[in-house]
Amino acid sequence: SNKKLLVLPGDGIGPEVMREVRRVVDWFDKRQAVRFDLEEDLVGGAAIDAHGVPLADATMEKAMNVDAVLLGAVGGPQWDSLDFNIKPERGLLRLRKEMELFANLRPALCFDALVDASTLKPEIVSGLDIMIVRELTGGVYFGEPRGIEELPSGERRGINTQVYTTSEIKRVAAVAFDLARKRDNRVCSVEKANVMESGVLWRDEVTKLHDAEFKDVELSHMYADNCSMQLVRAPKQFDVIVTDNLFGDMLSDTAAMLTGSLGMLPSASLGDIDETGRRKAMYEPVHGSAPDIAGEDKANPLATLLSFAMMLRYSFDLGEDADLIETAVKNVLNEGKRTGDIVAPGATMVSTTGMGDAVLSALDHL
Ligand code: NAI
Ligand code: MG
Repeated sequence: SNKKLLVLPGDGIGPEVMREVRRVVDWFDKRQAVRFDLEEDLVGGAAIDAHGVPLADATMEKAMNVDAVLLGAVGGPQWDSLDFNIKPERGLLRLRKEMELFANLRPALCFDALVDASTLKPEIVSGLDIMIVRELTGGVYFGEPRGIEELPSGERRGINTQVYTTSEIKRVAAVAFDLARKRDNRVCSVEKANVMESGVLWRDEVTKLHDAEFKDVELSHMYADNCSMQLVRAPKQFDVIVTDNLFGDMLSDTAAMLTGSLGMLPSASLGDIDETGRRKAMYEPVHGSAPDIAGEDKANPLATLLSFAMMLRYSFDLGEDADLIETAVKNVLNEGKRTGDIVAPGATMVSTTGMGDAVLSALDHL
């Protein structure tokens, strides 16, 4: 049956990169192996201009009822002076909150043609393909009590609380184990059980879930400080890393720098499986709306395209189709075609549209 997609291009370069991705979606649609019912709507500044809010209720309703959401980027200087509650970013936050997207997937995939863009030596990152799964709706960013108090002594005290429940840990760990089965079948669970109670519980619950339901997946544990070191020293030792909100925030940014440009980094955020067997999911590039290059046909569409590939792989179990996209991207890069953000000596500069053309042509040749 047809897959229902909601496409939210957003602001700045969002609509520019999404236009190229829609051409690739059409390419897959034409092959008939998989059909998409695609609907496009507004989010962020574009929605503020049209409706006065960064995400209309009707759009939220659509997002709740499709198989997957594909988002470009939101924000821009023209909306910076608005109140926090109606800023473009609130549109994104509303989607994440109401869809309860608790697992944030950030792959670090190193294309050989871009190995020089890494901050590390080629032999350390060449062929790298790891996935960081960050818990996104719990932990110290949301735990109570929190606040800043005045003490009788006149000192002030800032408080945040790291809290995780068994169900919060198990659901994100289950996502990580599921993903591992579609990859290299290995999960490394990361916490600081040596100094944190929530870390002790984390390790315990991940281990219990593994032993009960995912015995076929290889599970290891690592302290977060060691993990940050290992990511830079020998990142290829990892397949899937699962960790909490705070450690995941930092480790995924570290991993991102292993592979170079923002214009190449996809992501996914997953929620629970509903009564119809569908897992709530939103796919988006890691980068923002890049107002500095918006409207100039310069943006790299590959991060958004690779986000669509993740959708095929993880929402629709179309791993071979996802591989087609990744191979096409690899071939285009090997041909030396580059947008401005990843340009290298001897490469051919292409526009956003030019990159779209190149990917479609590469797909035709596979
Ligand atoms: P940004 O990611 O938009 O841009 C950072 C730098 O990277 C810029 O120089 C930009 O030109 C470049 N860049 C980013 N994506 C690129 C691409 N696909 N191709 C080529 N170059 C690319 O981050 P920045 O400048 O901090 O934020 C700009 C706006 O985007 C702000 O309004 C911010 O709030 C918003 N933003 C939105 C996000 C989202 O929608 N998820 C995430 C991050 C920022
Ligand atoms: Mg961060």
